[in-house]
Amino acid sequence: MKPTENGITMTPAILVTGGAGYVGSHTVTTLLERQSGQEFEIVVVDNLSNAYRSEGQKKPESLRIIEEITNKTIHFYELDIRDADALSKVFETHNVECVIHFAALKAVGESVEKPLEYYQANIGGTCTLMETMRKYGVFKLIYSSSCTVYGEPERLPLDEGHPTGRGLTSPYGKSKYFCEEIMKDLSISDKKWKIISLRYFNPVGAHRSGRIGEDPAGIPNNLMPFIAQVAVGRLSELKVFGNDYPTPDGTGVRDYIHVEDLAEGHVKAMKLFQQPGFSGFHAINLGTGTGYSVLEMVAAFKAASGKDIPYRIIGRRAGDIATNYSDVALSHKLLGWRAVKTLEDMCADTWRWQSKNPNGFKTS
Ligand code: NAD
Ligand code: UD1
Repeated sequence: MKPTENGITMTPAILVTGGAGYVGSHTVTTLLERQSGQEFEIVVVDNLSNAYRSEGQKKPESLRIIEEITNKTIHFYELDIRDADALSKVFETHNVECVIHFAALKAVGESVEKPLEYYQANIGGTCTLMETMRKYGVFKLIYSSSCTVYGEPERLPLDEGHPTGRGLTSPYGKSKYFCEEIMKDLSISDKKWKIISLRYFNPVGAHRSGRIGEDPAGIPNNLMPFIAQVAVGRLSELKVFGNDYPTPDGTGVRDYIHVEDLAEGHVKAMKLFQQPGFSGFHAINLGTGTGYSVLEMVAAFKAASGKDIPYRIIGRRAGDIATNYSDVALSHKLLGWRAVKTLEDMCADTWRWQSKNPNGFKTS
């Protein structure tokens, strides 16, 4: 049963799993910035496995700061999405209209060492979430997928019709692919489901305030946070993984997208749910359509930060591809969305976050 107060339906809620993390926290911020009053509640569930909470605080730092930035309240529950009972209580407490599902483990290398943990969290967690949604009659879902589902590109740019699931090299990547397949099957079995799988290219950047941003635990695996930590002096040099790829300067080329553009893509995707007749499973790329090489990223970050970024070329990283970038036509057509932030914005905003918060959300 959906919760009601004296027979009157309570304010609709958007349930955001993993909303304390990097992409989730920026999406929550954009959702709150877009509403003038209290049209809907934001309910975040997160087990804090990859989000930081200060001693004595109820909410993780990211959410606490968002409340300050937006002057709005976020409902927060510390729970694991595999805990069906805890999740059910959230659906019984709030009038959940739709779910944006970010919660997952995402370290590619770690997933090779701990496949069961990754499949359990990413696939098991997603199944429990969807079972709970069905139990409470909630059928609108936005899923955080990845361009990794395309594997080694057979053609570029990568359009949504490109085959998926071929040649995937990590349990992480496979978990994203398997979840999409499960969602397809589910939406065939029951026409009530409306599922939008957003295939992110490479999210970078931070909120323009520089108050929230990406805060990886340990040494970053991904390029942008690594460069930022070199610039701020936490790491001594960037290791560039190979300069013998068939790309203009030999280093890997990726489609980096500002996390605020990505967040806006989620807001636009939610609007699709209101379109008459919209149902089933839909995969949509979120990228800019433009690729930049590792050395172009280093140069852009140096210009934005005014800091030198020492780097050394080493061998290729296992599982890496030479080039990928997105075909953005479907996102333009279906969502009326396009990325507007430039590479300079991505670097400037990352630098604002990193230089203001050299230790991420931890103050010491
Ligand atoms: P993140 O680690 O910063 O955020 C994920 C959040 O989910 C964290 O706060 C973590 O504590 C939480 N979480 C993890 N497992 C959970 C569980 N079982 N129950 C409850 N909470 C749990 O990661 P992110 O970069 O914000 O990524 C968000 C989503 O986007 C993930 O699904 C990821 O696979 C996907 N994605 C990310 C990228 C990227 O480069 N950041 C690219 C493509 C897709
Ligand atoms: C990574 C993930 C991929 C995920 C994507 C999302 C791996 C193997 N793959 O891919 O599953 O979907 O992020 O954003 O982690 N690079 C360096 N030095 C570094 C780090 C990276 O040279 O220290 C290079 C890489 O070789 C690559 C580029 O920088 O050419 C971007 O790397 P990264 O940020 O890890 O992203 P992806 O490789 O696209």
